[in-house]
Amino acid sequence: MNTCHQPTEAGLDSFRIAKITFARPDDWHVHVRDGSLLKALLPHTARQFGRAIIMPNLKPPVITTAQAESYRQRILDARPTQGPGTTFEPLMTLYLTDNTSSDEILRAHKSGFVYGVKLYPAGTTTNSDAGVTDIRHCTAALEAMQQTNLPLLVHGEVMDPLIDVFDREEVFIDRVLEPLRRDFPGLRVVFEHITTRSAIAYVRDADAAPGMLGATITAHHLLLNRNAMLVGGIQPHYYCLPVFKREAHRVALVEAAISGHPRFFLGTDSAPHPKNLKENQCGCAGCYTALNALELYAQVFEEAGALNRLEGFASFFGPDFYGLPRSTDTVTLERSSWTLPEDIEASGVNVVVFKISKALSWKLC
Ligand code: DOR
Ligand code: ZN
Repeated sequence: MNTCHQPTEAGLDSFRIAKITFARPDDWHVHVRDGSLLKALLPHTARQFGRAIIMPNLKPPVITTAQAESYRQRILDARPTQGPGTTFEPLMTLYLTDNTSSDEILRAHKSGFVYGVKLYPAGTTTNSDAGVTDIRHCTAALEAMQQTNLPLLVHGEVMDPLIDVFDREEVFIDRVLEPLRRDFPGLRVVFEHITTRSAIAYVRDADAAPGMLGATITAHHLLLNRNAMLVGGIQPHYYCLPVFKREAHRVALVEAAISGHPRFFLGTDSAPHPKNLKENQCGCAGCYTALNALELYAQVFEEAGALNRLEGFASFFGPDFYGLPRSTDTVTLERSSWTLPEDIEASGVNVVVFKISKALSWKLC
């Protein structure tokens, strides 16, 4: 990471960093949607990141390699034609169902453009109805994934009306994740968008060789706790899944992200929804962070006094996990005090940009 200093108001003797340049980050978990939203919003992700793991929870979901191939082409077609983002690379995933065959997994592996298979326990989140009702239905697919080294990307929550929504991640570890890793010891797993101390401890302390277990952490879970969503009126734009937890969990997430532990890496889970579907009697889950993701993460790392750890988390540990080269391109963030922009209009649809109440300190050049 290169830094460049400028004198502060405190005098010429004290310096603070004015610019940081580091390897271009990748987003290891993002929803870029389809159709007009994809066209309008993909440039945001493409401007910030070199590559991204693309979530398959479209309607209908991306369950075959052939579907992933045409979705990939639509994403490539939506890239900006000039300026930053023209070389953005989508890394595709398949949506695991009770019926995913081992042949489909082998096809995905052979394709060269599918980098993971996503487990949505049925009913846990947006467009997860076609997801897995019982992981025991997926044995053949999981064996094929183990054999071909294709990672399983996990939405780590149980769907059980008897389990409180704030506890669903912790219960998932005991009921699903631990038995799964025991039964498939060669299966590579990413525990996506972790939100609890239990998930952090599980990932950090697991007996796993490098490249076998990782976890993504979102900017919104690093920045806010559940009060943001529930105090002073209900705030639908802070409703996401897994739902925000109490402050102690947020603090632990920041510690994990800045720890320099290679199992924790960046995944925004940026998930745009039309404004009217968030501000609704039954509002959709998701925060739209793609527009300013790096600035949001930089804010967290700086406030924790760990800007020097941002590059590992954002740019190194993800590609290392996926066995991909680290980026040779760079990004530069410039010190500047600015407030997050107003909402955007994307092909006639309003999308609310994720905001926090204070000014940000870094801006992507
Ligand atoms: O908040 C979320 N939104 N969490 C998810 O797991 C899915 C995502 C979406 O697709 O809207
Ligand atoms: Zn997601």
